[in-house]
Amino acid sequence: MQTDRTNPNFFMQRLACRCGDDYKGANHSKNRPMPEELSPIDKAKYVAARRAADYVEDGMRVGLGTGSTAAWLVRCLGEMVRDEGLKIRGVPTSTRTADLARKVGIEVITLDEARWLDLTIDGADEFDPDLNLIKGGGGALLHEKIVATASDQMIVIADAGKEVEHLGAFPLPVEVIPLGWKTTQSLIEETLVSMDVMGRSSSLRMNAEKPFITDEGNYILDLHLGRIGNPRQFALVMNQMPGVVENGIFVDICDTVIIGFADGRIELRDLNEGSVRQGVVEVAENDNLFTDLAD
Ligand code: 5RP
Repeated sequence: MQTDRTNPNFFMQRLACRCGDDYKGANHSKNRPMPEELSPIDKAKYVAARRAADYVEDGMRVGLGTGSTAAWLVRCLGEMVRDEGLKIRGVPTSTRTADLARKVGIEVITLDEARWLDLTIDGADEFDPDLNLIKGGGGALLHEKIVATASDQMIVIADAGKEVEHLGAFPLPVEVIPLGWKTTQSLIEETLVSMDVMGRSSSLRMNAEKPFITDEGNYILDLHLGRIGNPRQFALVMNQMPGVVENGIFVDICDTVIIGFADGRIELRDLNEGSVRQGVVEVAENDNLFTDLAD
C-alpha cells in the first residue's frame, strides 16, 4: 500500500497495515504502556524492542544483547515473563545484561548450558543495506558475536540513526589482549595502509583514567576508519592478527532489522524473505514500568 506521510490519515493507514497481513506473530506489542518522559531516541529504541519481543515464544532459548536498545528488550521480556507467564531462558551477552535480566525475572543460563539458541536480539552501532553490522560500542562485541553466531536467527533492533550506506563512520571496536597492546595497535595501523578505508588512526578505549576492560579482561581499540570498503575482507584480516581477539564487524550474522521511530512506527527488514514491512507498535501512553533502567 502506498502511504503518504503528509496525509493526516497516515497513522491510521499504518494501523490498518498492523492489523492486516503486514504483520505476523503474537501481539505482545499491543496495548502496552509506553514509558513517559522518554526522549525521541529512547521511544524509537523502545518500539523497536517491543516489536522484536513478538518473536519470542514459550520455551525459547534467547540471546540477550547489550546496550540501551537491548536493555529495553530485556525489560519487555521481563514484563512478559511476569504478566503472561512467558517461559524462556536467556543467555546474556554481558554482565550488565545478566544483572538486568535477573532483576526483571528472566531465567539466565550460560551459552554452554544452552549450546544453541533459537533467537538473539541485540542492538547495533551501524547496519548497512546487507545487514552487515558494526557492534561493540558498549564493549561486549566478543560475547555478542559468539552468542549471535550460535543462534538460529539474529534480530537487530535500532533507531533510524544507525542505518548507513557504508559501515565505518562509527569507530570500529577491536578487542585485543592487554599483553603488548601497543604492538598490536601498531600492527593494525600498518595493516590499514593496504586496506580500503578512509581513516587509519586508532585509540585505546578508556574508562575514566584507566583502560576499559571487557568481560573477558581484554582491552578495546577503536579504529577511526570513516568508511570500510569491504567489511567481510576487513573482518577476516583483523582476526588474523596476533593479539586481536575479535572485531566488531558482523557479516552474515544478522537476519532481520527492526527500525524504530519516535512516533511509534517501525520498519521490519528481513534479509532471508527479502521483505520490508512497516507498522505501528500500539502502545498506550500511561505509567512508566521501566524505571531503574540500567543501560
Ligand atoms: C554493545 C553493542 C550495542 O548493541 C551497540 O553499541 C548499540 O548500543 P545502543 O543500543 O545503546 O545504541 O554492540 O557492545
